[in-house]
Amino acid sequence: MLFGASYYPPHRDEADWSADLDTMVAAHVNALRLGDFAWSRLEPRDGEYDFGWLDRYLDLAHRKGVSVLLIPPLRCPPAWLFNQDKSMAIVNESGVALGFGSRYTFCINHPLFRRKGLELASRMAERYAKHPAVIGWHLDNEYGDEPDCHCPVCAAKWRDWLRNRYGTIEALNAAWGTVFWTMEFDDFEQIHTPRLTKTYHNTGLLQAWRHFRSDCTVEIVGLHAEAVRRHDPVRPITTNLQCLHNPRTNYHHLRKHLDVVGMNYYPAYGPTARANSLGIAVNRGVLGKNIHIHELRNGPHAVPGRPNNAPAPGEIERLTLHTIANGADAIFYFQWTAVRFGPEQSHGTPTGYDGLPNRNYPEVQRIGQKLARIAPALAGTEVRSDVAVIYDFPSRWAMQTGEEWTGPAALHNDHAKKIYNAIRLLGVNCDAIGRDGPFASYKLIVAPFLSCLDEALVDRLVDYVQLGGTLVFHPLCGMKNADTEIYPRRLHPKLEKLFGIDVRDFTTAGPGERAPFSWAGGESHGELFVDLVKPGEATVAARFRGGWWDGYPAVTERCAGAGRAVWIATFADEVFYRDWIADQLARIGVRSPLGYVPPAGIEVAQRVAEDGRALLFLINTTAERQSLTLPAPMRDLWNEDALSGEVSFEPWQVRITAKG
Ligand code: GAL
Repeated sequence: MLFGASYYPPHRDEADWSADLDTMVAAHVNALRLGDFAWSRLEPRDGEYDFGWLDRYLDLAHRKGVSVLLIPPLRCPPAWLFNQDKSMAIVNESGVALGFGSRYTFCINHPLFRRKGLELASRMAERYAKHPAVIGWHLDNEYGDEPDCHCPVCAAKWRDWLRNRYGTIEALNAAWGTVFWTMEFDDFEQIHTPRLTKTYHNTGLLQAWRHFRSDCTVEIVGLHAEAVRRHDPVRPITTNLQCLHNPRTNYHHLRKHLDVVGMNYYPAYGPTARANSLGIAVNRGVLGKNIHIHELRNGPHAVPGRPNNAPAPGEIERLTLHTIANGADAIFYFQWTAVRFGPEQSHGTPTGYDGLPNRNYPEVQRIGQKLARIAPALAGTEVRSDVAVIYDFPSRWAMQTGEEWTGPAALHNDHAKKIYNAIRLLGVNCDAIGRDGPFASYKLIVAPFLSCLDEALVDRLVDYVQLGGTLVFHPLCGMKNADTEIYPRRLHPKLEKLFGIDVRDFTTAGPGERAPFSWAGGESHGELFVDLVKPGEATVAARFRGGWWDGYPAVTERCAGAGRAVWIATFADEVFYRDWIADQLARIGVRSPLGYVPPAGIEVAQRVAEDGRALLFLINTTAERQSLTLPAPMRDLWNEDALSGEVSFEPWQVRITAKG
């Protein structure tokens, strides 16, 4: 278990390094991530590398027993490099070249920029491959976070990418339907990047552009990884992905370049944090194994008036253990020391502007001490789930091609989080997988959205159900092909057969309008969209009540092979999902490890090991006291306590229990 923070030696006087490390060691910190944004200090002038300060820092850290995840920086070059060739500036959709300043304003495809960045990574890997403090490599920071670039280098690369994807201009025109608004191209050279225009770009073009931009990021991550691996084939390579707010990169495609997936996690403090762990599940799903939390908030953000910006006492512990419960094997807080200058002066940290412990430090120290104690019990345990939601980047991109066509901008994530949260409220683990995920590992897969299909994916979905899986679809699922063209019957023909329904007709609802339906005697409602389903071979499990669509099916299901295909004809409310999924779980034999549905205020998650060891995390997600009844006597490893029967929880309190 790695426990530490981000640290920026160049932000501190060298004379303070030792004392800073002492505050870390006293808090049981055993690892740091560092090196990001340090290019101007690592190569102060073209070709003149200065590794002296890093040598001294790594030696010192090693002497104090602190390891380092070393970050070769890449997407923030120094001023001298930018001034050699200003064409490396990102050109935004309005055609404006971004100015030097801020960060990630440079084109990741620019040849000089790439060459210099990769050279730096190579030199760092060569120099530190055998340094005893270095335990792994962390590629740059938040890959994919820069704006889309429309510069000539990108435009030419885009056209090559299109040639490669479509082969002929006729094929591209047909795939995108460029005849609409007389947009047909005669030659690949005529194809523009989606710059600012009067109204909507062609959706096929936009979807292809998202694939292209994602491929550019995947490519640079691959090159960066290669530059490091050439000199250090041994130590693991990771990087910090983001938590759902920035969907520019298909994280599933990064799988081939990373040994460990890491992510940043900044959910709002307060009881809503649980739904955000969908982001952890998505990142965990990239490699299908435990992850690192590379940046975790840990103190009050010093900006007055922001909601849920400051942790109550105990909440840092709750947030930290929530990430571990959901599969984190490394915690790095952001960052160890408050910075007196620059744009992030307001960030909460365990030590202050003077480098001395802040109010939250003892809490961090307590977490460190307890983690060190329970690390052996955590070792080898991971999150395993019988249930998954689909979180598919191409589907999300297609949901973002303009509100005019796809509804509220937050719809994709809100709907996905609602379903994920409903499942987690039942006390069962839930994974999040993309279209290429291991479907057969799950008994139940819920697709909040899944579109832009290809034939191979359709076949995999059909096989999944035939072989015994339960697959749940919603409006807009299965409707478009990979180029965003809608199937003539609004559903791929093989899926129409699988679900046994006709969904050609539909209606939409405005903000606040509800589409009530009843299921199992309870009153539920849908929002925004209602498929006016005509059941063929499917049976109707719930019907809408009221409105002119009264009597239309709200939920249908069809048994196919050994499994079932379920269609929920609207975006339903969370209570419905909770109750309906509970019923599904009972049907497929999945139970919470508690044996019953936990109180809503307590997060329940389980990590298990190959050898059968199971750790049950019980986390009070509220500022109120909570209680629950344990099915059997348990040991509370976190609090060194023996528990049985009814157990109470202080606000935000965490328990990690094991049998025996
Ligand atoms: C992260 C970023 C860090 C820092 C932090 C502030 O997204 O990786 O460099 O800016 O946000 O919250």
